[in-house]
Formats: sequence, structure tokens, C-alpha cells
Amino acid sequence: MYKNLFQPLLFTLPPEKVHDLTINLLSFAGRIPLIRNSLANYFTPKIQHPTHLLGFDFSNPIGLAAGYDKDGIAIPGLAALGFGHIEIGTITPLPQLGNPKPRVFRLLEDKAIINRMGFPSKGYHQVIKNIKSIKKHGSILGINIGKNKNTPLAESHNDYTQLIDSFSPYADYFTINISSPNTKGLRDLQHKVYLEQLLTKICDARDQAAEITEKHLPLLVKLSPDLEIPELDQAIETILSSKIDGVIATNTTISRPSLVSQNKTETGGLSGIPLRNLSTEMIAYIHRQTNGALPIVGVGGIFNAQDAQEKLDAGASLVQIYTGLIYQGPALVKNIIENLY
Ligand code: FNR
Repeated sequence: MYKNLFQPLLFTLPPEKVHDLTINLLSFAGRIPLIRNSLANYFTPKIQHPTHLLGFDFSNPIGLAAGYDKDGIAIPGLAALGFGHIEIGTITPLPQLGNPKPRVFRLLEDKAIINRMGFPSKGYHQVIKNIKSIKKHGSILGINIGKNKNTPLAESHNDYTQLIDSFSPYADYFTINISSPNTKGLRDLQHKVYLEQLLTKICDARDQAAEITEKHLPLLVKLSPDLEIPELDQAIETILSSKIDGVIATNTTISRPSLVSQNKTETGGLSGIPLRNLSTEMIAYIHRQTNGALPIVGVGGIFNAQDAQEKLDAGASLVQIYTGLIYQGPALVKNIIENLY
């Protein structure tokens, strides 16, 4: 029904309008128990796929990738769609608007999206209010954090550590986003010169927060699929010698693997089907190089159960989706879970 009815209707509107519409609907639905329970009844998969990772029992390995619920306004509504975990963000310390619109583009024929959002965020203060205003939702909550546009790279650790301090009481895990292509210089933080110091400070902040919250919060580093092999090797080595708990592979790509859609020349990060193999290959590489010792969350171009299974087989323990939801609709989560091996 989604593909024949809702998707053609929604695709007549600009992508960001559709995003705002659907997230506000989910936010509303999540606040009304009758609607939330009906959604949950409809979308709850008939079988679950319990997955133990990072000290948590995930009901299933499918999560919502960062970027859809940037400000944490729709967590219970999203949980009702069946996700085993929900990652909100990227959140920055101070509110910021992001890049001028339009900044999200559909590539219909390629089943892809290009976005250059540039971290629009309501800022940590408002997002904490949003999280506090919701009741139990039963999903594991990841907080994806980034730096403000105007924070110099050499000082960016202050943004990340401040966010860890602030969100520790509310998070189940943190994702350190140093791989979005739309904040100038951000991806340089993946290079050893910055990464070593950044990760040490972030891990220290997490350990200090644990003294108050009395919970160990896993830290995941989200990586770019555009890292060259020597850069990736260095990043893996630095991550392994830190107290980081795992990685998310991958963020969007600035590469343009043979696209046909009109919007292919837009600047920004590409997601969806053209990213799928790039991301799976990176997962397999990290898994091989670390002998499976580093937990991997796989993301990029998952549109069905087979795509998810390929990432799990390549070495990911959990997977996340974003663009697939837009093209396949909300029943995708249930569909994937029911069709995993
Ligand atoms: C994203 N993504 C993203 N990632 C992140 O870490 N922080 C963010 O704020 C965003 N924002 C964002 C906005 C939009 C419009 C898109 C399409 C994507 C990246 C996302 O989480 C994921 O890593 C990639 O999109 C690849 O997965 P899919 O979309 O191919 O399933």
C-alpha cells in the first residue's frame, strides 16, 4: 500500500516537507496511547531476533539511523514501528540552522538521496527537554553527537565532551559523528592527528559521567565510506587502542558511483542503493582487520531483508536504516525482521 499509494503522494512534495510531515505525525502518534498501541500492533514483527551487544539485549538488530529524528521529538512513535534501537541526532551543543534549503534531494531512478543538511539542531538543551517529556518507549536509545559549525577543529573535543556530560543520564549509547560530509573539516577528525586526542578526551568524559550515572555508556565512532585504506587502517588502529566500544559503518558518501537521476550533480552526502556495496565492503574489511573483535553497526542502502543479511554476514552485529524507509515505507522494519535467517 505504501509504494502504490502513499509514496507517490508524498513524492509530489519536497523531501524536507515530507520529512517534517511524517516526523510530526509520528511525534503526535507516539503521544496518544491508543494510536501508539495500534501502530505497535500493526508493525510489531511476528518473530523477533534478540541480539546481545554492548551489554544490551536488543529485541532485534534493526535500528533507525541518525538524521531522521535529529531533535528526539518522535521516539515513542518510532519505537512503535518495531525498531530494536533508535539513534537520534546529530545533536550539536548550541542550536544551529544548518545549510540553506533546498538541501535534501531525491534520486528516484537510483533509489538514493543526496543531503547537505549541515547539522540543523535545536541544541542540547531543547533535546534534553524533548527526551524528558516522553514516557517509556521500550527501545534502546542512541545519542549521535557532533560539533557546532563554528567550533574550530582543534577545540571540537569540548563540544563532544559537553554533550556526553549532558546526555549521559538519558542515553543508552553514544555515537561520535566525525564523518558527515556537510560540516567543513569534520571528517578530518578521523585522521590520527586529531583522532587520538579526541577519543581519549571523549572516553575520559564518558568514564567520569559513569561515576555519577553508575552506568557504562558504550561509545561508537561513525565512519565515512570515503576513507582510503591507509586512513581507515590508522583509524581502526587508533580506535582499537582507545576505550571506544565499536564503530558504525557508514555515513553518506561524497563519491558518485554511476548515477542516472537528474539530481546527481547536487553537492552533499549520497545514501541509499548506490552506497550499499561500498558500506558492506567496509564492514567486511573492518571485521577482517580486527578479527571480529570490534563491534560493528552496519548502515547504508538497506532496502530489504537480504540487504540487511548481507551486512550481518559481512560482520555487522546490528544494522540501521534511513533511505530505505523513505522508499519502502515503515513496514520495512517488520519485513526485514521477519525475513532474516
Ligand atoms: C543522514 N545521515 C546522518 N548521519 C549522521 O550521523 N548524522 C546526521 O545528522 C545524519 N543526517 C542525515 C540526513 C539525511 C537526510 C540522510 C539521508 C542521512 C546518514 C545516515 O544516518 C546513514 O548513515 C546514511 O544515510 C546511510 O544509510 P541509508 O540512508 O542508505 O540507509
